[in-house]
Amino acid sequence: MGVAALRAQESLRQDRLFDDPYAQLFLDAAHPAGSPWSTGSAAGFFHAIGHQVAVRTRFLDDTLLAAVREGCDQVVLLASGMDSRPFRLAWPPGTTVFELDFADVLAFKAAVIASRTTPPAGQLARPTCRHVAVPADLREDWPQTLAEAGFDRRRPAAWLAEGILYALPPEAAALLLDRITSLSAPGSVLAMDHGEDSELLRTARVSVSPDLRDLWQGGPSEDLKPWLARRGWDPTVRDIADIARDHRRPVPPAFDPDRTDAGRGWLATARLSERR
Ligand SMILES: C[S@@+](CC[C@H](N)C(=O)[O-])C[C@H]1O[C@@H](n2cnc3c(N)ncnc32)[C@H](O)[C@@H]1O
Repeated sequence: MGVAALRAQESLRQDRLFDDPYAQLFLDAAHPAGSPWSTGSAAGFFHAIGHQVAVRTRFLDDTLLAAVREGCDQVVLLASGMDSRPFRLAWPPGTTVFELDFADVLAFKAAVIASRTTPPAGQLARPTCRHVAVPADLREDWPQTLAEAGFDRRRPAAWLAEGILYALPPEAAALLLDRITSLSAPGSVLAMDHGEDSELLRTARVSVSPDLRDLWQGGPSEDLKPWLARRGWDPTVRDIADIARDHRRPVPPAFDPDRTDAGRGWLATARLSERR
């Protein structure tokens, strides 16, 4: 819901990097009396991460659409949360978008979307992709569940790991990447964000809720480039500060390389080599 709040805010800007009309709907449905993410305690956290969610959302939108145009006609959104990409992006005909998350998260989203795409109340367009919701726990055998939902490992896929890597301990991050790699035909694309924890970010998180103190678990055991390359992926890794500057947005304080109390943040894309 925190990510949805930031996407809703971005959608109100004149110079928005994307328009997500679903984000506010999710917030309203989850918190009819007002979202805790709209109150003062969230302000410090939102200030710390600044424009990170806006910049990453746009970057990952562009990456996924480019991958589909280049031949990946199946897209997998891992731990999709309140991501509305199946509904808001203009997918070329023939694209299938799978999204994985807990069953209750996907059921909540489906109910909100249905209320807005079904006449007479609904005004939002139906998705241009074939959308397949896959209830799954990423700690269990989700590759099997995904295959049963129709994913074809012989065809290239575009994978998204957004807002999840940093929350995994190193061994869980490695298992996730190994599973993605084993399901990926040559030419598949993987898009992700990652960021370091810092005193600044931890303090800001705890001001929202003490439960968020240990949200950061470190993620990959090494830099993203060798981590991906070791498994046959050809990665391009960019600092989020540079991408923010490209969009004329301030560098997110929590990922500002010039601050001693901050960490670094990255956005990465990788293509699986044909010669793996
Ligand atoms: C920070 S959100 C990221 C959501 C989304 N990718 C985005 O960037 O908007 C993390 C999501 O991971 C999901 N999640 C956490 N643990 C999971 C697990 N073991 N299996 C499946 N989903 C999980 C949560 O339900 C939540 O929706």
